Amino acid sequence: MQLEPFNFENIPLLVDVVEPLWCPSVGSSEFKRFNVEYIVRNNIWENDYRFQLMGGSEVEGAGARGGILSAAFFARKGDKCSVEEWFARESQRFPEEWLTASAMSKTFLTLMDERTLSLMNDDDIKLSLFISRKPGAGSQILDQACNHLRDEGWKNLYLWTDCECNWQWYFNHGFTLVKEDIYEPFNSEDEDYKTYIFKRKL
Ligand SMILES: CC(C)(COP(=O)(O)OP(=O)(O)OC[C@H]1O[C@@H](n2cnc3c(N)ncnc32)[C@H](O)[C@@H]1OP(=O)(O)O)[C@@H](O)C(=O)NCCC(=O)NCCS
Repeated sequence: MQLEPFNFENIPLLVDVVEPLWCPSVGSSEFKRFNVEYIVRNNIWENDYRFQLMGGSEVEGAGARGGILSAAFFARKGDKCSVEEWFARESQRFPEEWLTASAMSKTFLTLMDERTLSLMNDDDIKLSLFISRKPGAGSQILDQACNHLRDEGWKNLYLWTDCECNWQWYFNHGFTLVKEDIYEPFNSEDEDYKTYIFKRKL
């Protein structure tokens, strides 16, 4: 399976995977899905480091050339993200009080991105989002993407994640924990909301 540039038509299939994990507590089901797509799009940067792996026709939703198995998106220091243009257009159909949830997501994503980028050197790169639709496809896309990044001269791969993601995965795949924090605005009564920054040499 070859690494190829990400096709934006596949975004709904990625949203399907993370929707149950990242759903906000307010709003209609349409709004909840919209907010999850907003989070996904916040992690897709304007660069040539947006990848997908395609698989056989056995994959759910697959067309003639097969379906998307996994996707991985990276960010360099200084990269831009054009999500706010999409948000301005798509958010108009939802009431202001629901959009507070989107603003809370945005504040959190921005803080964690800034915190991670501040630890990186100019020749380090950040894994911003990584989603697999088939067991095994997560490791495969990351391995292929890392080979490509290493060949280009990037030194370390950084990422941040949190307790709503599959954060344990990184411990088992060669990453070292660099920083662990609690994001208080998302704490619940009985549980702290933990965030993690990981690093791996390329
Ligand atoms: C994190 C994530 C991307 C990992 O992807 P993945 O494809 O599930 O991960 P792996 O490639 O390690 O495969 C998972 C398991 O499938 C099995 N597997 C591996 N290769 C396989 C293959 N060829 N065929 C069948 N099963 C396989 C293994 O049991 C493997 O676990 P292991 O760690 O013991 O080897 C995925 O869990 C995911 O999309 N999570 C939701 C989004 C998320 O949290 N993203 C990360 C934070 S943003």
